[in-house]
Amino acid sequence: MCGITGYIGDGDCSTIIARSLKNLEYRGYDSAGVALLDGTLEVHKQSGQIDDLTIPSMPNATCGIGHTRWSTHGAPTDANAHPHTDCSGDVAVVHNGIIDNYEAFKRELGDDHEFTSETDTEVIAHLIEDALADDADLRDAVEDVVAMLEGSFAIAVTAVGHEGIVAARQDSPLVIGHTDDATFLGSDVTAFVEYTRRVTFLEDGDIARLTESDVTITNGDTLVERERQTVDWDADAAEKGGYEHYMRKEIHEQPHAVRQALSGRVDELAGAVDLDLSLSREYCNSLDEIQIIACGTSYYAGLYAAELLERHADVRVSVHVASEYEFRGNRDPWRTLVVAVTQSGETADTLRALRKAAGAGARTLAVTNTVGSTVAREVDDTVYIRSGPEIGVAATKTFASQVTTLALVTVYLGRQRNAISSNEASTILRGLSAVPGAIQQVLDAEPAVRETAEEYADGDAFFFIGRRFGHPVALEGALKLKEISYDHAEGFPGGELKHGPLALVTEQTPVVAVLTEGTNADETLHNVKEVESRGAPVIGVTSETDPNPVFDTALEVPAIGLMEPVVANVYLQLFAYHVANQKGRSIDKPRNLAKSVTVE
Ligand code: AGP
Ligand code: GLU
Repeated sequence: MCGITGYIGDGDCSTIIARSLKNLEYRGYDSAGVALLDGTLEVHKQSGQIDDLTIPSMPNATCGIGHTRWSTHGAPTDANAHPHTDCSGDVAVVHNGIIDNYEAFKRELGDDHEFTSETDTEVIAHLIEDALADDADLRDAVEDVVAMLEGSFAIAVTAVGHEGIVAARQDSPLVIGHTDDATFLGSDVTAFVEYTRRVTFLEDGDIARLTESDVTITNGDTLVERERQTVDWDADAAEKGGYEHYMRKEIHEQPHAVRQALSGRVDELAGAVDLDLSLSREYCNSLDEIQIIACGTSYYAGLYAAELLERHADVRVSVHVASEYEFRGNRDPWRTLVVAVTQSGETADTLRALRKAAGAGARTLAVTNTVGSTVAREVDDTVYIRSGPEIGVAATKTFASQVTTLALVTVYLGRQRNAISSNEASTILRGLSAVPGAIQQVLDAEPAVRETAEEYADGDAFFFIGRRFGHPVALEGALKLKEISYDHAEGFPGGELKHGPLALVTEQTPVVAVLTEGTNADETLHNVKEVESRGAPVIGVTSETDPNPVFDTALEVPAIGLMEPVVANVYLQLFAYHVANQKGRSIDKPRNLAKSVTVE
């Protein structure tokens, strides 16, 4: 999820900033850079690894900021790496997040400012440059600029002629570290926990001025005091934000990840989405078919999307396991849109399938998490899911982000093809905007899931059933459990059990049933009865508005409509996590598996 560091003190600034960046390396990144202040401002930045970044010793530097970038706007190049500076080179900015309204500012500033990058971030530096012309105080200038920004951001700014660092937090974390003779800044405690455990967590809306010996924080027009704490995390725990495993941290990052996928792309009132796609209205209306190619969790996200596309874009969709894919296009292959869904953007099976389609003349679209990845470089269009790096081998937040992003693609195509009205599109977008809050409610119910996992952890095998949108979620729930607990688990369309798998159902085979909105729950309840009559315990995941039939365990999701199954999936992720944790499995790095399968 990229990272920010900062230091003010009379220590060896270059070394401390370099070490702080290394400490944030675990968060995943594609570029890195630093700005060091010793009367003048020196910026060193590049795409690639921190170890390859030359950070000169600057014995007189008393202040510095550093950044690891996870690209969202502009490929991972040296020019797009942070810090970004203003025209004079005297103001340096590093940024985590997305500035939704950067394009308008870039147009507005364009005549008087020279831009050197493709990023959204760079506009901040130039806006501060203009603000400083009117107000000599850096903190005030940053406050004026931040008030104009829309989106999610954590920023740190330092400038020639100004003491220390000014930091601002809006929907992206920032924490300050304190020693008797220095002040630190980080995206999380990991950045500086080796130097100090005395910390102050900033909150949304906070603007902090950091000097060597003092920190003042305002929020709006109010001077605020944030609690100074001492964390007892070690570096390893700090990397996981205090969670025991990356997987659980990433499960809990889903509300933020889904908000990032939606950020700056949705006009709910107009029922419109902006995905920066080159798919014209004419092309969208000439489209014969969509073929989705993917593997594993991404394949299940593709199945979910197919259901959405057929309902709301009125287009024929087929979903293919990438390793089994052959391009079987139409008389005019260009009228087949092949969508590669791959969070890493490097999965060999998916790339091979994509090349078959592109080679046959199909139009291609990638839905991926990784800017500058191979898939992004080989397709006609790319839509990023923006979930931030996912460290755990088991995909969690990226599934929710993929489905959210594919739902936005669905609304785009549906509107272009006049398959849905603007009002219908608004309804779908409202459902999407409710997902982060609904997921948070499920996360808040984690203790109940943990108890359920402890109760059923010793099952012989686990079955997951669901229909319509519940089917891909059942498949994903089974994959999550088997890949981290090593227990046998299998997902089925609810109606399939009686065609064979029912023979495996006993009192020792817990069955998880997805029964929310969009899952033909009434019909799936018949399948629940089938397994209950064989003695199997049933974990039912339902809408909170449904009268809960009697399950052994009932878990509820908020009633938000067709995205409820995605929210239900969070229960299944937590169930898998706690069953595996109960068994002491290597949750973040399960045996035999890799995060990105770059071999066929
Ligand atoms: C899911 O938990 C696994 N990590 C795996 O199935 C994964 O989804 C699959 O390898 C596809 O990866 P991709 O999205 O990076 O292409
Ligand atoms: N949106 C900014 C960029 O693409 C910041 C990305 C990040 O959070 O690292 O450079």
